[in-house]
Amino acid sequence: MERNFPYDTEDLWNKDREHVVHPWQALENQHVEGSLIVAESENIYIYDSDGEKFIDGPGGMWCVNIGYGRDEMADAIADQVRRMPYYSPFTYFGTPPAAILAAKIAELAPGDLNNVFMSTSGSEANDSAIRFVQFFNNMLGRPDKKHVITRQDAYHGSTYLAASLCGKESDKNHMDLITDWVHHISSPNPYRRPDGQSIEDFRDAKVKELEDKILEIGADKVAAFIAEPVLASGGMIVPPPGYHKKTLEVCRKHDVIYISDEVVTGFGRLGHFFASEPVFDIVPDILTCAKGLTSGYLPLAATIISDRLYDQVEGKNSQGQSFSNGYTYSAHPVSCTAALKNIEIMEREKICEHVQEVGPYFQEKLEELRDLAIVGDVRGSHLMGCVEAVMDKETKESLTFKTSKVGKRIDVHAQDRGLILRPFGNMCVFSPPLIITKGQIDTMVGIMAESVEATMADLRSEGLWDG
Ligand SMILES: Cc1ncc(COP(=O)(O)O)c(C=O)c1O
Repeated sequence: MERNFPYDTEDLWNKDREHVVHPWQALENQHVEGSLIVAESENIYIYDSDGEKFIDGPGGMWCVNIGYGRDEMADAIADQVRRMPYYSPFTYFGTPPAAILAAKIAELAPGDLNNVFMSTSGSEANDSAIRFVQFFNNMLGRPDKKHVITRQDAYHGSTYLAASLCGKESDKNHMDLITDWVHHISSPNPYRRPDGQSIEDFRDAKVKELEDKILEIGADKVAAFIAEPVLASGGMIVPPPGYHKKTLEVCRKHDVIYISDEVVTGFGRLGHFFASEPVFDIVPDILTCAKGLTSGYLPLAATIISDRLYDQVEGKNSQGQSFSNGYTYSAHPVSCTAALKNIEIMEREKICEHVQEVGPYFQEKLEELRDLAIVGDVRGSHLMGCVEAVMDKETKESLTFKTSKVGKRIDVHAQDRGLILRPFGNMCVFSPPLIITKGQIDTMVGIMAESVEATMADLRSEGLWDG
């Protein structure tokens, strides 16, 4: 398609750096470096305001699952805006898109996850999950059962509560967080397991750590365990086989609510609408999702609560109470319309089946990068992938690489070659649009290989590495 770029890049760049405070704004460089102004998009590609074309390796923020430029999505959104752009979602009001979507989500979700509360972001979905857990225990006369267990390397969002659930050390600098009732156990990252430990022993140690933490705090005080099935922002960490099931069993044994954060893994990224049951063999008590629910076309998130929990506080068990949690834009009818269209496209085009086919291919291609001297680990599942650089493959030492911003360096070389990456410290992660083809995967991974090689050459010439 011929594209016309009417943008004044310099003007946009100046306005952006003078006035926009971006998420995770790097303050040191704000008034020096400008951001890449992303202006247009199509399929798996984005274009900057000068017309440069890039493969979108992270799929926006891991959310543009059906890809860019869907006319039927634009039409559906416009139709709903004309019909009715907004109405209050508060009790006693509903809208057709919200009702139809909630029923569809309940149909797609595993087990008895049938009660759908909607908000606009993954952070709010996780906040609402914890708020429900607190409300639930208060209603059941257990006001002390409030502690929440989470993990190092977890990412659950950026509201005060969701940020407190995160476990990435780099995000905690100079920020206040809830510490009295949120507890962290260690990351289930198999790459970082002790030398010589089998994967099964590592798994069992991690499961035991959860149980030990519950017992240390007191099972009568622990309300919930929250876990991403694959720790996404932490570096696409896939816990060992059986870990999910065993941690769920521990939670059940101690009457601890299991919250599965499927904000990234939901809506096709692992080849299913929800990964918990088909991939990890668990049916959580609460499941949260966002991002791919609308493929990022509009903001929407859901907190899906099981009948087992919900039935205990509704109807004759309600004690005349309300669950006082909600937002003006909960279940926004236009966002719900976008989600319904997104699901329709995913089902019609069999996008989950496509991911089941191309996902293993992507992982195979990524594996080839292991031959490069600074690549310590390559991991992921389906269309989630991570390449981790280390100083030394034997010792897995990575700190020096983090401080020399190796991930960022690789990203800069990738951008020169037409690929956007998502760097984290010494890692680069991938979560491309789910419609990506095998040919596009070859190009993407080929550019990654060249970019890693170019980075290795820089590090050698700067005397930072002699590998
Ligand atoms: C697993 C997970 N949970 C929650 C969130 C927070 O979602 P949001 O940025 O929409 O608030 C994210 C965002 O990246 C995420 O990766």
